[in-house]
Amino acid sequence: MEAIECIKSRRSIRKFTKQQIPKEIILEILECGRWAPSGVNYQPWKIFVIMKSEFKKDLAKCTKYRSIINNCSSVFLIFLDKSIEYNYTKQVQSVGAFFENLLLAIHALGLGGVWIGEIINQKDEVNKLLDIKDPKFEFMGAIALGYPEGIGKSSRKELESFVTWI
Ligand SMILES: Cc1cc2nc3c(=O)[nH]c(=O)nc-3n(C[C@H](O)[C@H](O)[C@H](O)COP(=O)(O)O)c2cc1C
Repeated sequence: MEAIECIKSRRSIRKFTKQQIPKEIILEILECGRWAPSGVNYQPWKIFVIMKSEFKKDLAKCTKYRSIINNCSSVFLIFLDKSIEYNYTKQVQSVGAFFENLLLAIHALGLGGVWIGEIINQKDEVNKLLDIKDPKFEFMGAIALGYPEGIGKSSRKELESFVTWI
């Protein structure tokens, strides 16, 4: 898919078929995440790929979007790795770029995904499930992905409402 078309046609997908995504495809998506830009090229991300349905069931209890987690094929749990001391805002922005690269790759491959930010409200529960005790890892959110059932719909503000030309 052409890049511009991919960016403009991506929508959040919250319903999935029962088909599971093969590991090779997940690897291709992760490879696209790997090439996200980051401040000083620190690449301050850490990702857990959840494939096991037993784990997904437990994870689903950590968010009000449990039906999305229960019905998707796989979940990415994405963390900021704060082991390198650097500007916090830029580290978080870098992880945001990582998220977007993953979402665009998911879409480009004919799959669907949704960024689940609400789950960070239950970050302690997620850390416990993953047995993460090291404070250098800060939970940034999840992406649920799978084979899409239906299409996502959303609109955008007009350019005039937020662009100032000087
Ligand atoms: C930081 C962030 C957090 C989000 N959290 C959630 C969430 O918890 N649950 C959800 O269903 N969608 C979530 N979304 C998806 C947005 O609702 C969605 O991107 C937005 O409504 C625009 O729709 P689109 O992605 O289909 O274009 C989140 C998106 C972002 C960028």
